[in-house]
Amino acid sequence: MSDAKTVFITGASTGIGEATARAMVAEGWRVGLMARSRDKLQALAQDLGDAALALPGDVTDLGAQQDAIATLVAQFGRLDASFANAGKGLDTPGTEAGDPEEWRRMIDLNIMALLYTTRASIPELRKTRGHLVLTGSVAGKVHIPGSIYGASKWFVQGYAGNMAQEMREWGGRCTLIAPGMVDTPFFAEPKPDKLKPEDIAEAVRFALTRPERANLPEMVIMPTG
Ligand SMILES: NC(=O)c1ccc[n+]([C@@H]2O[C@H](COP(=O)([O-])OP(=O)(O)OC[C@H]3O[C@@H](n4cnc5c(N)ncnc54)[C@H](OP(=O)(O)O)[C@@H]3O)[C@@H](O)[C@H]2O)c1
Repeated sequence: MSDAKTVFITGASTGIGEATARAMVAEGWRVGLMARSRDKLQALAQDLGDAALALPGDVTDLGAQQDAIATLVAQFGRLDASFANAGKGLDTPGTEAGDPEEWRRMIDLNIMALLYTTRASIPELRKTRGHLVLTGSVAGKVHIPGSIYGASKWFVQGYAGNMAQEMREWGGRCTLIAPGMVDTPFFAEPKPDKLKPEDIAEAVRFALTRPERANLPEMVIMPTG
């Protein structure tokens, strides 16, 4: 088994996922990059060099994630961590006004695809006593009037704790990353006074580089202002 550790990252084409890929390569890790935007992933992988592998695909397809992880492990020989990070909000908020088809697409991504990342990763993570990192949100810790997006992140919050309990049985770890507002393409308008994606990437890097004895169940990162 190669010495360099490997992390699989979903939502790696922009925002928090891209910043985390850059941070982990700077740390000496290898990265597998999954998102739908093939061109962005290939440009990022080229920028990061031999340590990065672009794995374009739709994470709402379990088979696509399983294939991506198999390709990543074939390339780098091991999987030490998975960062289930791909997610989206809703254009039309609210249960009365919202669009049930848009809810379905969001739940497929924020909940089902995150479960698929876990399902596809666990057999490999068990071999390395590895680490699962899930992107929740502060919106999954407080009640926001009528927020269906926030409710999808309450799922992530609960599931992360449950996976932490399960994974500790074989020496694995699970960390929930709960950001406040971050200036990424998640929002149509720039948010210059909020967090930068690098702030979240640094939290993920910190979690992934703790010694085996140290478990970080949860990290909350809020903008100061
Ligand atoms: N920005 C914030 O304020 C904030 C706060 C708390 C939590 N979060 C969470 O942070 C995570 C990352 O968001 P971000 O802010 O970095 O936003 P972002 O820049 O919009 O990133 C979303 C990523 O998900 C990917 N993605 C979307 N649908 C996909 C699909 N079906 N298959 C594969 N990849 C898909 C996108 O790539 P493609 O379009 O190329 O597929 C992109 O790489 C999300 O879970 C979000 O809910 C964000």
